[in-house]
Amino acid sequence: MDDLNFTPDIYQACSGVLLGKRIAVGAFREVYVCALDEMFVVKIERYTGEFHNIREWEVWQQVEHWSIMAKWFAPCKFISPCGKVLIQYRTMPLKQVPRMLPIFFTDLKKENFGKIGKQTVCHDYSLHLFVSNVTGRKVKMRKVRKDFQEDCNYTL
Ligand SMILES: Nc1ncnc2c1ncn2[C@@H]1O[C@H](COP(=O)(O)OP(=O)(O)O)[C@@H](O)[C@H]1O
Ligand SMILES: [Mg+2]
Repeated sequence: MDDLNFTPDIYQACSGVLLGKRIAVGAFREVYVCALDEMFVVKIERYTGEFHNIREWEVWQQVEHWSIMAKWFAPCKFISPCGKVLIQYRTMPLKQVPRMLPIFFTDLKKENFGKIGKQTVCHDYSLHLFVSNVTGRKVKMRKVRKDFQEDCNYTL
């Protein structure tokens, strides 16, 4: 069977099937309601080489089966192989600023959080503790235990 000739009008039709109303343009992603199911949003990476979608996806892979952690994150559902397109559960805007948030969130802006049901969740978690610590002005250091050579798998 011959390959389809994917002309620009076909690409446009496909994106029309997937992309509903545009919710926001963030610093790194454009975010649309998913036209196929309004429970989801489609996050399109705006620039090449930034990888916010990919980092978010990887964080979600780490926490999704860890219930005390997972409940704080808007779950990711799908990522395109190139990372340009991420599908994530849709959150609703916060009415109030939360009083407490887990310590591992670092990009603390109201617009990075929302609600899924009654639960406050973060929907922009590409800048998490590791990235922020590395990119901060100071690298935080920790003491290395004496048995470092024999057992590298300890936690503090
Ligand atoms: N899962 C989501 N559900 C609803 N709105 C979202 C979701 N993710 C992002 N948004 C909206 O899109 C904006 C930009 O998305 P964000 O993930 O913060 O991208 P950026 O990395 O560009 O800051 C957010 O401030 C929020 O208004
Ligand atoms: Mg953001």
